[in-house]
Amino acid sequence: MTTQEYLEALERVRIEGAARIASAETEAELTEVRNTLVGRKSGRLSHLMRELASLPESDRREAGARANSARATIEEKIGTRAMELGAKTSPQQNLDLSMPARQSWRGAKHPVTLIIEEIEGIFRDIGFTIALGPEAELEWYNFGALNFPADHPAMDMHDTLYLSDDVLLRTHTSPVQVRTLQSYPPPIRILAPGNVYRRDFFDASHAPMFSQIEGLAVDEGVSFVDLKATLSYFANRLFGKTKTRFRPSYFPFTEPSAEMDVECQLCSGRGCPGCKGTGWMEILGSGMVHPSVLESAGVDAERYTGWAFGMGPGRIAMLRYGIPNIRLLYDSDIRFLEQFAR
Ligand code: PHE
Repeated sequence: MTTQEYLEALERVRIEGAARIASAETEAELTEVRNTLVGRKSGRLSHLMRELASLPESDRREAGARANSARATIEEKIGTRAMELGAKTSPQQNLDLSMPARQSWRGAKHPVTLIIEEIEGIFRDIGFTIALGPEAELEWYNFGALNFPADHPAMDMHDTLYLSDDVLLRTHTSPVQVRTLQSYPPPIRILAPGNVYRRDFFDASHAPMFSQIEGLAVDEGVSFVDLKATLSYFANRLFGKTKTRFRPSYFPFTEPSAEMDVECQLCSGRGCPGCKGTGWMEILGSGMVHPSVLESAGVDAERYTGWAFGMGPGRIAMLRYGIPNIRLLYDSDIRFLEQFAR
């Protein structure tokens, strides 16, 4: 064999070999192809490598390098094809039907976050903006400026966590009313969502930390009609068409004060254990901002009037989604939260 013939033979093995490797459809076929190409005894390439010795001395070096490179190419192609065939066949071969499936957890917004966002959306549509205040609050903003006298019985409504003599964890979002009134001139229409803290026992319906949403509207000529109309509109958007009623109530920082009930969402007002047979569910406290609150914040109470409300989105989430125990809102159990993924 001349050197020229030798190199041509090498080239044929390389090209034909590549084609046969590519068309091998099973691992057994590939092994067969491998033997005919690079098998130690009868492989075509192995044979050619032994032939090297018969070439003229001066050509051996170059031809040997070509043979080695052909071998490397073929081995590499066999390796790649083996992996392709393995990927195709091994799942069936290695499939263990008794293995527990791997669980994939899906993130989801917390139900209380969903409700807060929904409420923010409704009020944003009618011109309210979002305001925020600190959770560690001065006693004055939480109580004093809101018309709680130091010994007022209303103070009993709040069992407060104090951080120091005059700093506490706010017991409601109402201090944001005062901070907003101090910072911006009327007209004011704000919504203030945030966490509040009370020294409650942790039972099915009370938690030591929960979220509230405060609302405040102040301008010239604002009346109780605005309060009723806006809050009724809100309830109808949040719950779909629903009856509402206002009951007289008491808060030191509003006068007059009213709590708003909506038709029980569980029994449509017929009366059930959920609403203790009344057919109504309380969803918020509200009232006309007390003139002394406006004055505390430096707003002219002769010129301006306003109304405010506070509600608990946690309560509303429980109503909306039929959540039976408030603890579910705080456990961060992924199996619970996952149900709110959408
Ligand atoms: N701050 C009151 C509470 O926590 C709710 C409220 C807010 C009532 C604004 C009237 C006006 O119960």
